[in-house]
Amino acid sequence: MALPNFSLLSVLLLSSILLLNQPVKCADDEEDNLYQGINKYRASLNLTALTKNENAECFADEIADQFKDQPCTNTTGANTVPGTEPLFSNYPDLLKKCHLNISNTKDGSVMPACVPGLDPSLVLANFTQSLYSGYLNDTKYTGVGIGSEGNWIVAVVTTNTSEGSFVTYNGADMISKIGLIYCLVLLLAANSFLS
Ligand SMILES: *[C@@H]1O[C@H](CO)[C@@H](O)[C@H](O)[C@H]1NC(C)=O
Ligand SMILES: *[C@@H]1O[C@H](CO)[C@@H](O)[C@H](O)[C@H]1NC(C)=O
Ligand SMILES: *[C@@H]1O[C@H](CO)[C@@H](O)[C@H](O)[C@H]1NC(C)=O
Ligand SMILES: *[C@@H]1O[C@H](CO)[C@@H](O)[C@H](O)[C@H]1NC(C)=O
Ligand SMILES: *[C@@H]1O[C@H](CO)[C@@H](O)[C@H](O)[C@H]1NC(C)=O
Ligand SMILES: *[C@@H]1O[C@H](CO)[C@@H](O)[C@H](O)[C@H]1NC(C)=O
Repeated sequence: MALPNFSLLSVLLLSSILLLNQPVKCADDEEDNLYQGINKYRASLNLTALTKNENAECFADEIADQFKDQPCTNTTGANTVPGTEPLFSNYPDLLKKCHLNISNTKDGSVMPACVPGLDPSLVLANFTQSLYSGYLNDTKYTGVGIGSEGNWIVAVVTTNTSEGSFVTYNGADMISKIGLIYCLVLLLAANSFLS
C-alpha cells in the first residue's frame, strides 16, 4: 500500500485516540462468540435475536473491569439473580462512565460469569445452562451488550421500554461513534500492513 495513504491512517488513528477520554475496545472474538451463541439459543426457542446495544456493552465492560482481579472461585456478586441488587457500591459511578442513568437501566439485567481462558463452549454453557437461561429466554429482552476482562465475561440485556433502553444522556453517542471509527481505522491499518 502507498505511503501517503498510510500516513493519513496514522493521523486518523492518532486523532481518534486523542479525542477519547475513555478507553475504547473493539469487540473480542470471545464476546462475539457469546453473542452468536445466545442468539442461536434464542433461535432454538423461536425467539427473536437480541440486537447489539453499544451502551449496554460499555456498561458490561465497566462491570467486567470491576471483576477482573477477582479469582473465578470468588463468586461474590456473580451468579446471583441479576439486575436486582447493585453488584458494586460504585454502581452509580460505573453507570455515569457510560453516560447512563439508573432510570433507563433498571429493567436490564447484568450477568457476570468467570471461565478460565474464556473457553467458548464453557462460556456459552455458563449462560444458557444456568440461572441466566431464564433471562436469555425472556421475550421482554430485545438487546444485549457483552464485555470481558481477564477471565470474566459480562452480558447486559436490555429492553425496548424506556426503563431498560440503556439510552444515554447528552453527547455519549458521539463517543461510541468515535469508537467505531477507531475500530475501523485499526482494521484498515491492519489490512494495509498485511497487503
Ligand atoms: C419452533 O417453531 C417450529 C416451526 O414453527 C416448531 O416446529 C418448533 O416446535 C418450535 N420450537 C419451539 C421450541 O417452540
Ligand atoms: C471476593 O470479591 C469481593 C468483591 O470484589 C471482595 O470484597 C472479597 O474480598 C473477595 N474475597 C476473596 C476471598 O478474594
Ligand atoms: C436521571 O434521571 C432522573 C429521572 O429521569 C433525572 O431526574 C436525573 O436528572 C437524571 N440524571 C442524569 C445525570 O441525567
Ligand atoms: C461455567 O464455567 C465453569 C468454569 O469456570 C465450569 O466449571 C462450569 O461447568 C460452567 N457451568 C456451566 C453451567 O456450564
Ligand atoms: C426459560 O428458562 C427457565 C430457566 O431455565 C425455564 O424455567 C423456563 O421454562 C424457560 N422458558 C421458556 C419459555 O423457555
Ligand atoms: C418491544 O418488544 C416486544 C417483545 O419483543 C414487542 O412485542 C414490541 O412490539 C416491542 N415494542 C417496540 C416499540 O418495539
